[in-house]
Amino acid sequence: MEFEVKKTFGKARLGVMKLHHGAVETPVFMPVGTNANVKLLTPRDLEEAGAEIILSNTFHLMLKPGVEIIKLHRGLHNFMGWKRPILTDSGGFQVFSLPKIRIDDEGVVFRSPIDGSKIFLNPEISMEVQIALGSDICMVFDHCPVPDADYEEVKEATERTYRWALRSKKAFKTENQALFGIVQGGIYPDLRRESALQITSIGFDGYAIGGLSIGEERSLTLEMTEVTVEFLPEDKPRYFMGGGSPELILELVNRGVDMFDSVFPTRIARHGTALTWNGKLNLKASYNKRSLEPVDERCGCYTCKNFTRSYIHHLFDRGEVLGQILLTIHNINFMISLMKEVRRSIEDGTFNELKSRVVEVYSSGGV
Ligand code: GUN
Ligand code: ZN
Repeated sequence: MEFEVKKTFGKARLGVMKLHHGAVETPVFMPVGTNANVKLLTPRDLEEAGAEIILSNTFHLMLKPGVEIIKLHRGLHNFMGWKRPILTDSGGFQVFSLPKIRIDDEGVVFRSPIDGSKIFLNPEISMEVQIALGSDICMVFDHCPVPDADYEEVKEATERTYRWALRSKKAFKTENQALFGIVQGGIYPDLRRESALQITSIGFDGYAIGGLSIGEERSLTLEMTEVTVEFLPEDKPRYFMGGGSPELILELVNRGVDMFDSVFPTRIARHGTALTWNGKLNLKASYNKRSLEPVDERCGCYTCKNFTRSYIHHLFDRGEVLGQILLTIHNINFMISLMKEVRRSIEDGTFNELKSRVVEVYSSGGV
């Protein structure tokens, strides 16, 4: 893959990645499509919103439908009807988020959340599966330590992440696909630094910052990102894994991060909350019962062009799925528009103003 930084504003970068299924402008937000779909959206909705790349998950797709079924379709793009780039996570995050039976250097044995059977995953298997999926960007298989891990445990996970990164790279024999390394190190600056130096010494197409936004204080998230970015090369994309609220994105773009993903916009949409240029808006709240306004007057999405807050309030009141669909359409459109504004502001030098506005409306809790 190619990556070019076109312009900078402080540490913030405007760039473009050229991937097998198309170009992606950065900073970018990647909607999450764990089970080969972004919940409640068709690929057409995503294209209309202007999404350039989505994320999916090796671990979940291995379990269901299984690699065989996706191979029958000659890859994940055909399987799910999405023509633009896809990034797949490696399964390393599930090391922390699912019950494990055994974890050592060889790999991890999980208990399947679907039927309780034993699943083995290691760098070689993760690469084999991601190659079969045909993702534009694959992630190395890493060990993301649990949030309450102590220094020794994080150190061990970080060193294992290095050994697994070497094995991932070695097993990654493919064309037209890119491979990103992942930096771990928890909330310990010395381990972050060591991990960044180790992972960059191997050499990857891009670098991810892993093991953050898992419950630590916001100030630590930002600090750990700073100490990591310091040791990443300028000419490769930087991806913060699993963080994507508007204010966090602005803070991290300001620290030199280029790529984001999160279930946050789609998840809160299903719970009745919209993201707007004035902060969060709860459509279930009774003050929206008679509101003839659109969700966001500055938004041009299908939802905002055609429906009132009152109507969406009614749909949530009746438990109609359409309410969730309309808000998901809006929230994804909002995130994509937000990233367009971020890129524009880097281009024209108004990034600081945009950042202050977004951080302010999103830290005051919104309307
Ligand atoms: N998603 C969020 N955090 C992480 C991480 O540390 N590793 C991986 N593989 N995926 C993630
Ligand atoms: Zn909208």
